[in-house]
Amino acid sequence: MSTRAGRLGSALVAALDRRSRPSRERIAVTGFFLGTQSALDNLLSRAFFELSNRDWARAEEHESHHLAFRDGLSRITCEPSTVVDLGTGAGGSAAVMAKRWPAATVVGVDSSRQMVRRAREQHQGVVNLTFDLGDGLRLSLGDETVDLVASLNYMPFPGEVKRILRPGGLVLVASTFQSVGSAAIEANWSDHGFTLEAKQDAQRGSFELYRRSP
Ligand SMILES: C[S@@+](CC[C@H](N)C(=O)[O-])C[C@H]1O[C@@H](n2cnc3c(N)ncnc32)[C@H](O)[C@@H]1O
Repeated sequence: MSTRAGRLGSALVAALDRRSRPSRERIAVTGFFLGTQSALDNLLSRAFFELSNRDWARAEEHESHHLAFRDGLSRITCEPSTVVDLGTGAGGSAAVMAKRWPAATVVGVDSSRQMVRRAREQHQGVVNLTFDLGDGLRLSLGDETVDLVASLNYMPFPGEVKRILRPGGLVLVASTFQSVGSAAIEANWSDHGFTLEAKQDAQRGSFELYRRSP
């Protein structure tokens, strides 16, 4: 990409970042609490992530991006066979799990075509890792087929997580940017039958680990 085209692209992403921020915040809240998202907010959010896939891949190059996520993983003592990474972006968190559990099948899911393309490109050749286009609110995964659902900087809908998780399965929700969730967030997981196993503000970001009732 020429320098001028590169500058134009960066300016467009920065403008879309500002313009789509309120929409992204709204759909994170309605998606998490209600399992619904407004079509317009979704469109703006999608446009931002489609165009910013390169930036998310760059962010992953810094070790600090996955610090809280890794802290959360260190609390998981079982060996999951089936792992799903929701809102996987450029796929770094999914790749961390594929390396940690080489016998597991790891699938990264994202609703942005360009993110999925980027993730496949970044992590090609990792035999136990694939990336699929999909909507975290309506996943094409069977009921009770997954041992561990993970997400980094994406708020999954507990209703859909519960549907795909085996009884007793785990969900790790980590953030690079925010501290641990509010009491309302914990209550929403609890309302869907999840028990908090661990939560921690990390060196950078935070994580929460919940277990689906057996
Ligand atoms: C803030 S980025 C985080 C990406 C990556 N997990 C990371 O931390 O680098 C959020 C990701 O969630 C994806 N996303 C947003 N809404 C989604 C949905 N309903 N289903 C699946 N993925 C979604 C976006 O496309 C984007 O890649």
